[in-house]
Amino acid sequence: MTTATAAGGPGTDAPAAVAARLTGVSHHFGETTRPPVLDGIDLTVAPGEFVCLLGASGCGKSTLLSLVAGLDKPTAGTVEVPTGRPALMFQEPALYPWLTAGENVELALRLRGVGRGERKAESVRLLDLVRLEGAHGKRVHELSGGMRQRVALARALAQEGDLLLMDEPFAALDAITRDVLHDELTRIWSDTGRAVLFVTHNVREAVRLGQRVVLLSSRPGRIAREWQIDIPQPRRIEDPDVSALSLEITEHLRNEIARHGH
Ligand SMILES: Nc1ncnc2c1ncn2[C@@H]1O[C@H](COP(=O)(O)OP(=O)(O)O)[C@@H](O)[C@H]1O
Ligand SMILES: [Mg+2]
Repeated sequence: MTTATAAGGPGTDAPAAVAARLTGVSHHFGETTRPPVLDGIDLTVAPGEFVCLLGASGCGKSTLLSLVAGLDKPTAGTVEVPTGRPALMFQEPALYPWLTAGENVELALRLRGVGRGERKAESVRLLDLVRLEGAHGKRVHELSGGMRQRVALARALAQEGDLLLMDEPFAALDAITRDVLHDELTRIWSDTGRAVLFVTHNVREAVRLGQRVVLLSSRPGRIAREWQIDIPQPRRIEDPDVSALSLEITEHLRNEIARHGH
């Protein structure tokens, strides 16, 4: 049976006990005889928690994220997001090129129902938060790749919901820009208290950012293993502790890939 429930929601005053919960989630596209893309996923993201979902390309990470986002319904199992529609951020910033940076953020605020009078001030505040002071009136083509992803992050933060879903948002950026954005994301995460479910195939990135790393196997996508990460933030990608754990996780990821003949 397919169910996608939104427990809580408007009218529920008690703070949500979870940011997201997947119970027995399986998913396949088309023919049911093929191995499912996702199989028996049980995953809970606590309020304010930063979880990295790690796996080889094609293992079903984006599929899982789209189920949490409510863009698709699971073939089986339940997806609960009690805090309302999550915000989304992808590898491509997907900004409207005919709008300025500020207008892109204001559009998200308008869709959320923020009044015209407050939108300008709020978009300035959000662009400041991602350190794009002064970029409010700039058009998208005037911005570098890293700046565009900052605008996309500000736009994601403009959406309501206490859960931010990020699908390889920094994969197309150069290493230095990515490093800076890791620092920014860690700071914004601790400042805003939002839960983050961050998808990546990059082990070091997962260990740099997450409080927890969840490793997904391929075909079918199952939770192979997970690691709680107690290394204090802000971490550096080249920290010895980050490197050591990355090596350990890489071994597990290699085994998963070997098992499925990628
Ligand atoms: N809409 C779709 N229709 C059919 N197959 C799909 C669709 N979306 C994804 N897939 C398949 O599901 C698998 C997982 O894809 P995806 O979730 O994008 O993986 P990842 O994000 O981990 O790289 C892949 O084999 C992909 O080809
Ligand atoms: Mg993907």
